[in-house]
Amino acid sequence: MEDNIHDLKTSTKKVPSLAGGGGIGDSIQVFAPATVANVVCGFDVLGFAVNEPGDEVIMRVTNKPGITISKITGDDGRLPLDPTKNTVSVSVMHYLQSIGRADLGLDIELNKKMPIGSGLGSSSASTVAGLFAAKTLLGDNVSPIKLLPFAMKGEEMACGYGHADNVAPALFGGFVLIRSYEPLDVIRLPHPEGLYCAIVFPEVDVPTREARQIIRNKILMKDAVIQWGNIAGLVSGLFMGDIDLIGRSMQDVLVEPVRSMLIPDFYKMREMAMELGAVSFGISGSGPSVFAFTRDEETARQVTQKLQQHLTHIKIGSNTYVSTINDAGPRVIG
Ligand code: HSE
Repeated sequence: MEDNIHDLKTSTKKVPSLAGGGGIGDSIQVFAPATVANVVCGFDVLGFAVNEPGDEVIMRVTNKPGITISKITGDDGRLPLDPTKNTVSVSVMHYLQSIGRADLGLDIELNKKMPIGSGLGSSSASTVAGLFAAKTLLGDNVSPIKLLPFAMKGEEMACGYGHADNVAPALFGGFVLIRSYEPLDVIRLPHPEGLYCAIVFPEVDVPTREARQIIRNKILMKDAVIQWGNIAGLVSGLFMGDIDLIGRSMQDVLVEPVRSMLIPDFYKMREMAMELGAVSFGISGSGPSVFAFTRDEETARQVTQKLQQHLTHIKIGSNTYVSTINDAGPRVIG
């Protein structure tokens, strides 16, 4: 399978200049999706993309070499316009260098359409949108797998570690397993049709960098046995299309017990979601967003509504999303 790669060398071929053809024009607008990383039991190794929310990048060719960021919207001034400090421009610059096109002039406009620090892969969505915009503008048919290391550079910058469980599903779409980081070995997994994802983002700040620092770095063998049984069960359930198996495998004895403390009424929200008929419930990425799988859209909407009402009751604002798994990944929208 083409997506399952063992040797991830980046492309070294020279991409033709824009003037020489191959590209599609001098400006492009790209959307890249939010992602749910970890998928409860698969810390740093499992993730999937959703249809919404996501981020948009407008990229324009300029006649001055180098990358600029002219505008960022939707970030409340939290993201740097300095291209040496922004994950989007840094990833794009690494990509351009790898194809011998660091001479190119590009301007980036980033429109954040999703909350920052939400556990929904906000930096990944921006970075992937930027990389996809650049490679499409250049007419470079580089495969998504070859772009992955550049996107991981962005994650390293954003939270101190280049984990791939947000950027890989944002780039490829669908459900993704990172079997190994060294060497990078990424596998796209199937998933049953009709699986819905209910997402609730409680408006509390949980920076990924900090949420990673509080995790224990030693684990007990008895916990490891439970965890790898669950990961294997979840992956089997995805292949078999067995939603019950998916649900009972989505339990995390390693990370969730620690990170759940950062999320208001986490266990109460789980109880509510499961009572409404959710298949599973857990933290999305490093939180504070939580998500539930359901068998239908109606149940997903009931879950988001009920959890939002509860959060409002305890005076916490929230955003909610209902989505199927997004198999498409990034797309050109203008
Ligand atoms: N696997 C990462 C973590 C995802 O849990 O820290 C961050 O969204």
